[in-house]
Amino acid sequence: MPLIAFASPKGGVGKTTIAAHVAAILARRGYKVIALDLDPQNALRLHLGVSIREEGRFLSSLPSRPLWRDCVVETESGVRLLPFGPQDPLGTLELAVALTQEPALLADPVRDMLATPDNIVIVDSPPGPNAALTAVTSMLDLLVLVLLADGGSAAIIPQIASNRFLGRGTLASRSADRAVVVLNQVDDAEPLSDAVVEMAQAALGKRLIGAVCRDQALAEALADRRMLVEGEEGAGEDFQLLADAIVKRVRLPGADPQTYQGLFEWRQP
Ligand SMILES: Nc1ncnc2c1ncn2[C@@H]1O[C@H](COP(=O)(O)OP(=O)(O)OP(=O)(O)O)[C@@H](O)[C@H]1O
Ligand SMILES: [Mg+2]
Repeated sequence: MPLIAFASPKGGVGKTTIAAHVAAILARRGYKVIALDLDPQNALRLHLGVSIREEGRFLSSLPSRPLWRDCVVETESGVRLLPFGPQDPLGTLELAVALTQEPALLADPVRDMLATPDNIVIVDSPPGPNAALTAVTSMLDLLVLVLLADGGSAAIIPQIASNRFLGRGTLASRSADRAVVVLNQVDDAEPLSDAVVEMAQAALGKRLIGAVCRDQALAEALADRRMLVEGEEGAGEDFQLLADAIVKRVRLPGADPQTYQGLFEWRQP
């Protein structure tokens, strides 16, 4: 079943916000969603409405090879969360070394999650290159790159369009094939934002799979431990459209919370 990662070259662009909302929307539509946090900031749980006192952990305890099923935190959104867990900076560096030497520490449990026919695994990554995302890159069905509609993105978009941003050679361009882009914090009132959206559309074509408007309601919702999953006007509606695009892109069959039996086959022969 599909493995979908949210990533970005830069920090603070909205990866965690978007990953959490797409995961929750898919769960509401009846899919079985696992949200896997690869970021030591351990923030995905907060975006999924889990209490800051929740002490669950998965990534931070990987070197002791936990069973992923034992680490699942059930959330009100219906998404099953594998939190990063608490970790100090030295532990983060040690984990990166361990994953670089032995990617199977993470690749094996993720392969096991994907072997369960009706699981969708949604990954939230830290900004920039990192050992955890690299450990699962070969299994990715979709790499969703989140960029802001700003001048910095204007410099990155051509690299994405030419499949060069993951490095050179056949392996990099094979992964790049599965990479799509979402522009976040789009603001119609800003000429630069408008120009970046137009540029991205021209350069990326169908690989631009969504745009999310700048919406103050997101900060308020996060503070209240709520999510915009009902298609509210603004970012809520944009998240729904993005979820539609992802479902189409990874060829998931329709799922309905009432009739869903968990026996679908998403991959066409
Ligand atoms: N469309 C949006 N409109 C308004 N605010 C937004 C939007 N998207 C994200 N934000 C806000 O931007 C901040 C950063 O978002 P988020 O934490 O999701 O980014 P990130 O890419 O995961 O960051 P990091 O690289 O640190 O993991 C948050 O305060 C979030 O509420
Ligand atoms: Mg984040």
